[in-house]
Amino acid sequence: MRLLVFGTHAYEKDVFLKHADPQKHDLVFLEARLSAGTLPLVRDADAVCIFVNDKVDAEVIAGLHERGVRLILLRCAGFNQVDLKAADRHGMTIARVPEYSPYAVAEHTLALMLSLNRRLHRAWLRTREFNFNLGGLMGFDFHGKTVGVVGFGRIGQCVARMMNGLGCRVLVSDPVADPDPAYTFTSFDELIRATDVITLHCPLTPTTHHLIDADAFAAMKQGVMLINTSRGGLVDTVAAIQALKTGKLGYLGLDVYEEEADLFFQDLSDRVIPDDVFARLMTFPNVLITAHQAFFTAEAMDRIATTTLTNLDGFADNSINPQNLVHGEHHA
Ligand code: NAI
Repeated sequence: MRLLVFGTHAYEKDVFLKHADPQKHDLVFLEARLSAGTLPLVRDADAVCIFVNDKVDAEVIAGLHERGVRLILLRCAGFNQVDLKAADRHGMTIARVPEYSPYAVAEHTLALMLSLNRRLHRAWLRTREFNFNLGGLMGFDFHGKTVGVVGFGRIGQCVARMMNGLGCRVLVSDPVADPDPAYTFTSFDELIRATDVITLHCPLTPTTHHLIDADAFAAMKQGVMLINTSRGGLVDTVAAIQALKTGKLGYLGLDVYEEEADLFFQDLSDRVIPDDVFARLMTFPNVLITAHQAFFTAEAMDRIATTTLTNLDGFADNSINPQNLVHGEHHA
């Protein structure tokens, strides 16, 4: 099977080649992301493989179908970048990697929390300059604090366990998950009102878009910490900047950003950044941003490559694990 892998970086190519079987897998690696503009690159392919910021709308789906592609492989868990209804209409199979390492994302979430609290990003800059002054670096004990986990799926559950381990009281909001006696399940409104730290682990859907908006910030405790390692669109960034300016938001840790498609996964260090909202965000000392790297561990990358190749093999004999398939109704 011939698979075009869009938006490839060297680190992904190496892992895919490590796991590919040259007898079965004809992999073509492309640096370009898949979009309407790059459709002409699709020639003689059975399938395409994409990541989080490729744009697979109805036009792209129709174009892929016209070029004979019947399978789209997502080498990620989220699928908000694909028009699933259009894919269904064209009989396109979409397969993803629903779980590669919840630990990778959960551990990165913890790293953001602890770094922000103890201001490691600022302390590191100081000690490099032989400035050993502690002014402005005072943190707080996580032990005894109340932490809110929004979304109790694979990643949210790992984070909840870790916070328990630190001696925190954990509140959980999830409209679907079965209650777990180790944690207090509550409504989203109560969770944001009662917690010192809020961490987001629910998917981005039309109902969760800007889940954290100006009203949500208004309801939170003064000086709250907010961590988003899920999807950028969950947080209204302009409202977050307002909350940072008033001190309502005391700490903000982001691994995702709503307009990240134009920024992340590339070196823009010698460019002028046209996104004023992002540029403003970078000026706050209590904001720590990583560029969608929470998933990025060796274990997760191996799992992403092997599951994607297994999905490719499964398409040929109709044996893709049903849990890896994504359909139009996932949008509901
Ligand atoms: P999952 O599907 O196992 O769990 C998501 C949970 O969110 C489910 O239990 C669901 O019921 C719950 N949920 C849905 N709507 C909700 C709402 N309005 N309020 C509260 N809970 C709600 O997903 P998983 O694997 O835990 O991943 C969570 C998110 O993390 C993904 O949707 C993805 O966007 C993001 N992610 C980010 C990565 C990164 O590198 N930064 C890597 C992998 C995933």
